Amino acid sequence: MPAAHGIAEAAAVLRAGGLVAFPTETVYGLGANALDARAAARIFEAKARPGFDPLITHLADAADLPALVGALPPPVAALAERFWPGPLTLIVDRPAAIPPIVTSGLDTMAVRVPDEASARALIRAAGVPVAAPSANRFGQLSPTRAEHVVHGLGAAVDVVLDGGPTRCGIESTIVDARGPHPVVLRLGALAVEELVAAVGPVTVRPGSSGQPVAPGTLAAHYAPRTPLRVVAGAGPTPDDGVRRGFLAFREGPAAGYAAVEVLSPTGDVTEAAARLFDALHRLDAAGVSEILAEPVPDRGIGRAINDRLNRAAATWSPPPPSL
Ligand code: TXA
Ligand code: MG
Repeated sequence: MPAAHGIAEAAAVLRAGGLVAFPTETVYGLGANALDARAAARIFEAKARPGFDPLITHLADAADLPALVGALPPPVAALAERFWPGPLTLIVDRPAAIPPIVTSGLDTMAVRVPDEASARALIRAAGVPVAAPSANRFGQLSPTRAEHVVHGLGAAVDVVLDGGPTRCGIESTIVDARGPHPVVLRLGALAVEELVAAVGPVTVRPGSSGQPVAPGTLAAHYAPRTPLRVVAGAGPTPDDGVRRGFLAFREGPAAGYAAVEVLSPTGDVTEAAARLFDALHRLDAAGVSEILAEPVPDRGIGRAINDRLNRAAATWSPPPPSL
């Protein structure tokens, strides 16, 4: 249902333990009452998400956080103050009110306030914190439109709120700022440059960077069903009868491809991020047997785009047994 008209009904579904997919400024989330362990368990089921991958808790307002988790370490409070509502997820201690299933047993919790009016209205109307991963099956492309959610999760969701295409198009940046030095755990829609301008030097955890140490060691994630390779440019496609798709950063020659998606005709990384997952969804539906993707300039949100492309290209390697 349209996000503007469905808030009250969707909030009632959340309070009753149901699942509501809703738009945020980054990607669509699959929400459940974060105080309700059974509701949270339904998220893992619907996504076929492994239990070791914790969820992000969403709040309507930054002012709601101290009531849930108590006093914040000053650097965490400073980041919340500076960037919320917005595409930044912060790590805090897990409060007793949040059942361990939400955090996969960790004693920390990821939390953010989305910069999307309908999402905040939904959370406020539900009157509870909302646990929400991206509303896709585990490991697959994140949804940036309501249609992506319906296509990927279908009947597993009770309500899908449709707010149109999401503004950023890529997930939030995750930062652990509890220690002396902020650490970026996942590159995302808030550019590292903006973080540095606000709080000084940050560390980007290896494996979150656009240049992974060893692509084969990355968990495959954010992946289309069609095999994807990252290549330096369109080049001429070999005339071998194979139907290939090309994901181009900007307008340019791309002869011989069965399908081409251009992320930003003018070469703007922010526009490219907003279109990334939609373009990959379309290439995935184009009946090609391989997708070649061109990396984008490795600055600003471009780093997060390259991170997602490299993960989409990586082969699945199982997590260590300790997780
Ligand atoms: O933009 C976003 O962040 C979207 C929208 C819906 O808010 N959500 C999202 O959720 O991307 P998900 O579940 O697809 O990704 C959450 C990430 C996972 O990589 C998870 O491992 C990490 O957050 N995470 C959650 N809790 C954590 C914690 N306590 N410590 C470290 N990482 C955590
Ligand atoms: Mg996800």
